Amino acid sequence: MQTPDRAQSTPLPPATRILADEARPGPDLAVMRKHYTHEGLVEGDLAAEPMGQFTQWFHDADEAGVVEPNAMVLSTADAEGRPSSRTVLLKGFDARGFVFFTNYGSRKGTELAVNPYAALLFPWVALARQVIVQGRVEKVGRDETAAYFRTRPHGSQLGAWASEQSSPVASREVLEQRYADLERRYPEGEGVPVPPFWGGYRVVPESVEFWQGRENRLHDRLRYLVDPAAPAGWRVERLCP
Ligand SMILES: Cc1cc2nc3c(=O)[nH]c(=O)nc-3n(C[C@H](O)[C@H](O)[C@H](O)COP(=O)(O)O)c2cc1C
Repeated sequence: MQTPDRAQSTPLPPATRILADEARPGPDLAVMRKHYTHEGLVEGDLAAEPMGQFTQWFHDADEAGVVEPNAMVLSTADAEGRPSSRTVLLKGFDARGFVFFTNYGSRKGTELAVNPYAALLFPWVALARQVIVQGRVEKVGRDETAAYFRTRPHGSQLGAWASEQSSPVASREVLEQRYADLERRYPEGEGVPVPPFWGGYRVVPESVEFWQGRENRLHDRLRYLVDPAAPAGWRVERLCP
């Protein structure tokens, strides 16, 4: 007969392991759902163009205490159309588009070099809202990048130099060593040059969808599309939820 200790240390056969996992209490995702009772989004209340509407909703998200309301999911695709996504921070927006900063040699950077189109998604779940932007991506000017780089804390400026973003690295120690070398070269208070491989991208919107969760899954989805013939250069269509 096995002692309890031995029984614990003996690996379970695969089928038993699955049963053991199933027995573990956990959230039942099939019944996890929230009833949205939010006010709707109607055509008459929309701004004439998407940036005006985005400004309003961004303000609402900020006021509601959404953590990092400027965090957005950026999706790109490689030359074969295989997608990839990651979170980045929106660092500016105006009539020209939505700006973020990153390493041009990163995975997203190399994908944008061959396929300069992207989607952005703002997941403001606390407000039962999301905004989805699609458009062409261009690099921002070096002056704009330099102006933003100078606003970053010294440590983040060095971090941009230290990290070959998206490339494998042997260990954390290698990264910390690179950072320490940079710190010696550019001590606090010393100007750090902008890395040539680092800068901003602007997503120039072609469509912007505003999604508001409503009762009974009859959500509101209003999408602006570029249309030079429309009054403000944009037309709006409603999509089925
Ligand atoms: C909240 C949050 C904000 C982030 N902001 C940025 C950002 O502004 N720029 C950036 O390059 N990476 C940012 N990252 C890291 C990216 O998600 C990602 O790991 C990195 O850019 C490499 O992506 P890639 O290998 O797909 O190019 C952020 C991650 C999180 C979770």
